[in-house]
Amino acid sequence: MSTTDAFCGFCLTALLAASVAASAAGPDAEARGRYLVSVAGCNDCHTPNYMPTSGQVPEEQWLTGSELGFRGPWGTTYPPNLRLRVQGLSEAEWIALARQPMRPPMPWFNLREMSDADLGAIYHYLRGLGAAGQASPAYAPPGTAVATPYIDMTPRVADTAVATR
Ligand code: HEC
Repeated sequence: MSTTDAFCGFCLTALLAASVAASAAGPDAEARGRYLVSVAGCNDCHTPNYMPTSGQVPEEQWLTGSELGFRGPWGTTYPPNLRLRVQGLSEAEWIALARQPMRPPMPWFNLREMSDADLGAIYHYLRGLGAAGQASPAYAPPGTAVATPYIDMTPRVADTAVATR
């Protein structure tokens, strides 16, 4: 095979890959999405009580968001209800949303590295789970009072540093 042929073969592969905008829906995609959500830790924040119960939350409640806020210099954020958020979005819109910069402690820079196929699988899993639960409280900017419990993530001076001062 000449260099030119090899190059064109590569082009064709790239073009074919680029033209596959949506991943296949179905049981395989949903199972893959469930697996990814489980190992990537999405439930840790987006499912109520998941972390304190070591994951002992029925799947019907998975990814329905949380009213436990995370406070830091960024204000107070709440993990949104992903099962409601995904409603009405196309797969491409979901993938674009998942790659947006977000406030802490959402590890958006990790999610951004997921392949289209993996983000698509999560999309199909969320759609398969269906809408459930309520919308999470809205983001509150720094200095704004909130009516929910929250975890204070403000870095503190170490106890030992205070003790020896
Ligand atoms: C450490 C807690 C945490 C983990 C783990 C986490 N999230 Fe989030 N997520 C959040 C918070 C908090 C927000 C809201 C950020 C904001 O207000 O800007 C958020 C926002 C989002 C949004 C944006 C929704 C919107 O309407 O704008 C998406 C999508 C999302 N998360 C998906 C995921 C997925 C998928 C995973 C697993 C790979 C995951 N998150 C893991 C805390 C987390």
